[in-house]
Amino acid sequence: MTPIVFVTGGNRGIGLEIVRGFAKEGCKVLLGCRDENDGEKAIEDIVGADVQVIEMDLSNDQQVMDTIVRAEAVYGRIDVLVNNAGVMDDDEWQNLEVSKIKHSMQVHVNGAFTLIKQLLPGMIERDYGRIINMSSGWGSFDEGMEGPLAYAISKAALNALTLNMANSVEKGKNIQINSMCPGWVHTRMGGRDAPRSPEEGAETAIWLGLQEKDGPNGKFFRDKKEINW
Ligand SMILES: NC(=O)c1ccc[n+]([C@@H]2O[C@H](COP(=O)([O-])OP(=O)(O)OC[C@H]3O[C@@H](n4cnc5c(N)ncnc54)[C@H](OP(=O)(O)O)[C@@H]3O)[C@@H](O)[C@H]2O)c1
Repeated sequence: MTPIVFVTGGNRGIGLEIVRGFAKEGCKVLLGCRDENDGEKAIEDIVGADVQVIEMDLSNDQQVMDTIVRAEAVYGRIDVLVNNAGVMDDDEWQNLEVSKIKHSMQVHVNGAFTLIKQLLPGMIERDYGRIINMSSGWGSFDEGMEGPLAYAISKAALNALTLNMANSVEKGKNIQINSMCPGWVHTRMGGRDAPRSPEEGAETAIWLGLQEKDGPNGKFFRDKKEINW
């Protein structure tokens, strides 16, 4: 069975390389993005692969739900979900407004949860599913929660969501729900001083998405190695 993969924030940065990586592995890939034109443009040079663009803005739960229900109906199933989309603005270190926290929580946690809530039951029924939540070391207790407020606490909450959802699945099922940190990556968010390429940032996500049945569940990874929450 060739997995069908859905990647949020797939039009640029690490997300686009995750799309490319799964497409290279022969998967059908659904590229989630806020603006369909950005998605279509991003895949112009991906030839001979099965990539479809799906417009989805994670700030609107109802639209997220309607869109993912429609996508499941059209494509029959979604086997791998990569909650990659993320936000971190230039004013992140100074902006301590509640509205800022709400927005980060919306994109990183509520949006991710809405997708998991819709897709997980089908994965359990088919006994196959992989969910990868793109977190960050900046939201890690073990690494000191060093990121700016809204970003750090929403990524920590995404990690909590990962563990809680992973624990909710009956043992022995072929379902794996994990978090990962891509390292410091040269993207619009990471900035140009970042040492890693988007391809390097994408590697662990693709590795997690293609795990066999005995793969990890409810863990946090960087560079394909488990790290502490
Ligand atoms: N870069 C790093 O060093 C680094 C380090 C640790 C973790 N991460 C995480 O890795 C993930 C990808 O980051 P990146 O570096 O590739 O960032 P990026 O280049 O800034 O890309 C962010 C992506 O998220 C999308 N997005 C933002 N708000 C959205 C919304 N409301 N609905 C749907 N999509 C939305 C963006 O869409 P638009 O193009 O429409 O804005 C874009 O596709 C993020 O979760 C980030 O927190 C990155």
